[in-house]
Amino acid sequence: MRGYNAKVTGTNDYKDFEGADIVIVTAGLPRKPGMTREDLLNMNAQIVGTVAQNVKKFCPKAFVIVVSNPLDLMTFHMMKVTGFPTNRVFGQAGVLDSIRFRAFVAMELGVAMSDTQAMVLGGHGDTMVPLPRYSTVAGIPIGELISAERIKAISDRCADGGGEIVRLLKTGSAYYAPAAASVDMCRAVLLDEKKVLPASAYLTGQYGIKDMYIGVPVVLGAGGVEKILDLKLDATELGSLQKSASTYKEHLKILGY
Ligand code: 2OP
Repeated sequence: MRGYNAKVTGTNDYKDFEGADIVIVTAGLPRKPGMTREDLLNMNAQIVGTVAQNVKKFCPKAFVIVVSNPLDLMTFHMMKVTGFPTNRVFGQAGVLDSIRFRAFVAMELGVAMSDTQAMVLGGHGDTMVPLPRYSTVAGIPIGELISAERIKAISDRCADGGGEIVRLLKTGSAYYAPAAASVDMCRAVLLDEKKVLPASAYLTGQYGIKDMYIGVPVVLGAGGVEKILDLKLDATELGSLQKSASTYKEHLKILGY
């Protein structure tokens, strides 16, 4: 009906992705109502670890976009098991979280979603860090249009956005929006778009954080994560980002890192 020319092949055999340019990894168990993304840690580490070994074997030059949860930890695990350079392994989360934030802003104001911009950083979990100061409607900071109280409510709903869908679906987690967000990232790499997007990227001291993956603004192009933008966050924003990072640092220890 829509006339897409895509060719879709279903398979259970890793050999079928031999030589792929880009791999999007969604493998893993989804949350059940009441679970946090971190509850999936050990089970999904095994699953993602097996996928990583096969990515390394069959497509050693690929870019890898990780979507499996807990996102920032699984992205780190993927990078470690494949041994790929960090610019080629990154996580999809900030795009999804920012889209959710934008949707809630658009609904709040009754404006076009396409006129909204948002930046949600930090881990893809309860500690995520929406940045209202960097969120706009047609260039107007949302603080000039929405009360602080309502911005807080929108931020909280955004952080709980995945959980809201898990509660509604009962037997799975969101898939339409994560898929659309992954396609945006894929396109940025394959078409060398140099898009500025929030993504889970490996930090080497930016924001005072290092040796781990966490959501930050990046430039995504043919080189994968070509640049990490080091924003001048205020003390509260930076504190929230570092708090989010320290939570995940602890979880990495559970994985033996
Ligand atoms: C979400 O936030 C699946 O973690 C994903 O919906």
